[in-house]
Order: sequence, then C-alpha cells, then structure tokens
Amino acid sequence: MNDVITVTQFAALKTAGQKICMLTAYDYTMASLLDSSGVDGILVGDSLAMVVQGHETTLPVTLDQIIYHAEMVGRAVRRALVVVDLPFATYHVGVHQAVAASARVLKETRCQAVKLEGGVEQAATIRALVQTGIPVMAHVGLRPQSVRQMGGYRVQRDEKKLMDDARAAEDAGAFAVVLECIPAPLAHQLTEALEIPTIGIGAGAGCDGQVLVTNDLVGLTTGHVPRFVKPHADLKESIDRAVSRYCDEVRQGTFPGPEQSYNE
Ligand code: KIV
Repeated sequence: MNDVITVTQFAALKTAGQKICMLTAYDYTMASLLDSSGVDGILVGDSLAMVVQGHETTLPVTLDQIIYHAEMVGRAVRRALVVVDLPFATYHVGVHQAVAASARVLKETRCQAVKLEGGVEQAATIRALVQTGIPVMAHVGLRPQSVRQMGGYRVQRDEKKLMDDARAAEDAGAFAVVLECIPAPLAHQLTEALEIPTIGIGAGAGCDGQVLVTNDLVGLTTGHVPRFVKPHADLKESIDRAVSRYCDEVRQGTFPGPEQSYNE
C-alpha cells in the first residue's frame, strides 16, 4: 500500500488478481486527497475541458493547459501513478508531434505516463512513444475526442473493432488500456484476452480496474452524470449548505464572532 506505484506494478496487480483503482484529478488539493486515500492511479484527464473549463466536449483543452494542471497534480502525488491525457490533435499529425508533446509532459511535470485515444490507428505512435521511454495507456471503445465523428456519446458494440484496437495497443507496447462504454460481457472478454490491465469506465466489473471522473464520484458535477457512475458523496449539497449558512451569518452580523476576531 505504501509502495510507489509504477507502470510495472500495474501489470503485477493484474497478475495478482488485484483490482486497480483510478480517479481523475486536475489540481493539487484533489490530487493530495486522492493520493492519501490510496488510489493506485490518478488521471489528469482531458475531461478537464468539461469539468474545470466548462466546455461541452473535451476537444478545446490545449497541451499547455493540461501541462499546467499536470504540474499541480504531479507536485501533490507521492504514491499513485500519474497519467496525463494527450489532448485532441496533439498526437495525430505524425509520431514526431506525439513524441514532442509527450516529452513535454514528462519533462515539465512530475507525471509518469501519457494516455491517448485509439488502437489500430495509433499503434505506430504508441510504439514510437514506448521506444522513446514514454509509458502509454491506450483508450478504446467510446473515444470522447472523436465525438464529432461518432455522432455522440454511445455504447460501443463492434466486437471485432474493439478486439483489434485493444490488441493493437497491447502489441505496440501500451502498459494498460482504458475501455470506455463497452457492454460488460465484451469488456470481460477483452480483459481475459489481454495481458495488459484493462481499466474500465462504463464497461462493467470484469475489467482489471476502474476509473471515474472524481467530480462525478463525489457529487460535484453540476450537469449530466452518466448512468455508469455511482456517487458516494453529495458535495454539491454540502457546499450549498455551507455557503448559505455563511451568507446568513454575514448578513445577520453573527460572523465573524469573538472567536474569529483579533481584539488586540
Ligand atoms: O478524460 C478523462 O477523464 C478520461 C476518462 C477515462 C475518465 O479519459
């Protein structure tokens, strides 16, 4: 539990039959809390475009912006493996662009790996990154960066494509693969077929691990929460209550009281 988690430990967790727990973080405070609570992996997801920046999709976030957030997360984390999403179109224009973008992530933050969306079509890129010494987590199934092409956020059921993508990622050297929005039996089948760990989100309990957007887990999301999320707290409600009480006390003149005031 206290050991620092590396990419090789992800593989060891699968071999030992131990589930891998991952959550997203975008800043120092949340990353510290998640790390000390014992998650195995923290993802600086491009979901920050929606969760932090308020965009409708993940497409607008830039490499500079994700590096800015990854720096904060990297400074906080002592144990978990920190993976950083390569934003849309920062790795599609040839392997040189992908290596340059990923090298910036590893040089400028304390994070240890990158994640990119795609399988078969990204195999050459994954291979080049791994040969450079950059650990890669692949992401197949629903790929939010392709939402415009996929026509929406839909469950992915093309068994052959999913198997081809996951195998291509593994063959190219990815150390793990995210399976997003895939029917549970199919995700289980992929998990059995692969040697590398599968990390599911909306892919059932048969994966080697799970990842969620932390804001969804703790009830901080203001918009739509996907059906695959099971919230374990209602922080929106707690914040609303705290802010209402504060405003009431300020307006009534009961805050600050003597305990919160310097009398000399
Ligand atoms: O950006 C993200 O948060 C993701 C998910 C897998 C949670 O890619």
